[in-house]
Amino acid sequence: MNDLVEKDATAPPTASSRIALTINGARREMDVAPWTTLLDALRERLGLTGTKKGCDHGQCGACTVLVDGRRINSCLTLAVMKDGAEVTTIEGLAEGEAFHPLQRAFIEHDAFQCGYCTPGQICSAVGLISEGRAKTADDVRELMSGNICRCGAYPNIVAAIEQAMRTKEE
Ligand code: FES
Ligand code: FES
Repeated sequence: MNDLVEKDATAPPTASSRIALTINGARREMDVAPWTTLLDALRERLGLTGTKKGCDHGQCGACTVLVDGRRINSCLTLAVMKDGAEVTTIEGLAEGEAFHPLQRAFIEHDAFQCGYCTPGQICSAVGLISEGRAKTADDVRELMSGNICRCGAYPNIVAAIEQAMRTKEE
């Protein structure tokens, strides 16, 4: 056998685990390696590329999704740890043809430029509103501080989230 392709007897076995997730309302099963992040499982295994990979280190929020209703950075979460969980990604927010109120608000307030951070911003904002802790624009800025926008669309993002908060209260 060619030395370059000869198996390394010291390499650890590549064990994988079968997990089941409910993604945007549909049950999905898959085999994942112990080190596969939820972000990579969504993007690479399930083709849900709406969730973005920015830093891959928990610093930018581009990978934010909702797990059992709570916002998390999917790049910091191992897929095996979420076996059995309900995951909502940006692809799961609209109801058929109708945008989610936050998606509408982002469009109305022009709350993006390149759009790379937008899926994470919107998923994070969904989590923020359901937490019910934000009352003012300053609260929104503080509680959304984990979601970085390199285009600097922050004023419009805050305005969009405030609009969605008001709509929810009405
Ligand atoms: Fe997950 Fe940046 S890609 S926080
Ligand atoms: Fe470009 Fe936020 S719109 S990074």
